[in-house]
Amino acid sequence: TVFGVGNPEARVVFFGEAPGADEDRQGEPFVGRAGQLLNKMLEACGFRREEVYIMNVLKCRPPGNRTPSADEVANCRSFFQRQLEILSPPYICCLGSVAAAALLGTAMPLGRLRGRFHTWRSSKVLCTYHPAYLLRNPEAKRDAWEDLKLLLRDMGLQPPQGKGRGTS
Ligand code: URA
Repeated sequence: TVFGVGNPEARVVFFGEAPGADEDRQGEPFVGRAGQLLNKMLEACGFRREEVYIMNVLKCRPPGNRTPSADEVANCRSFFQRQLEILSPPYICCLGSVAAAALLGTAMPLGRLRGRFHTWRSSKVLCTYHPAYLLRNPEAKRDAWEDLKLLLRDMGLQPPQGKGRGTS
């Protein structure tokens, strides 16, 4: 089981899809290739990985890393919802359409969800591209960085000088 990692008092929770093989082995979310990119994105924002909270919709790895089925999301719903209720973060950043759909209950494509804030309970929710998608589609990194800057601005934070454009 890959539950979650980070600071339970975090102002922002990064909410991904499901553990992959590396996460399954290590019991920690986002430690593989997508995790390396997420770390760079966090660093570009001026966050240390330990100061945010990182978790997934699914707590177990789907066989062969396939996209989670509706049944699997439904099985994990009570766990991720309670987890988010307890964390009660001011901000949730959904990474990819599986997390966005599971949290917001919408079938809208990510391209239409990103770039603005949504609400879940008392949290402001921003949706952006999943790091694994960004590894396959590096041209979308520019949009993801715009989303993260929107998040930072709303949190009253500024990205560190010179960061944010070299998250390759
Ligand atoms: N992708 C995810 O969505 N979560 C992880 O933990 C790793 C890769």
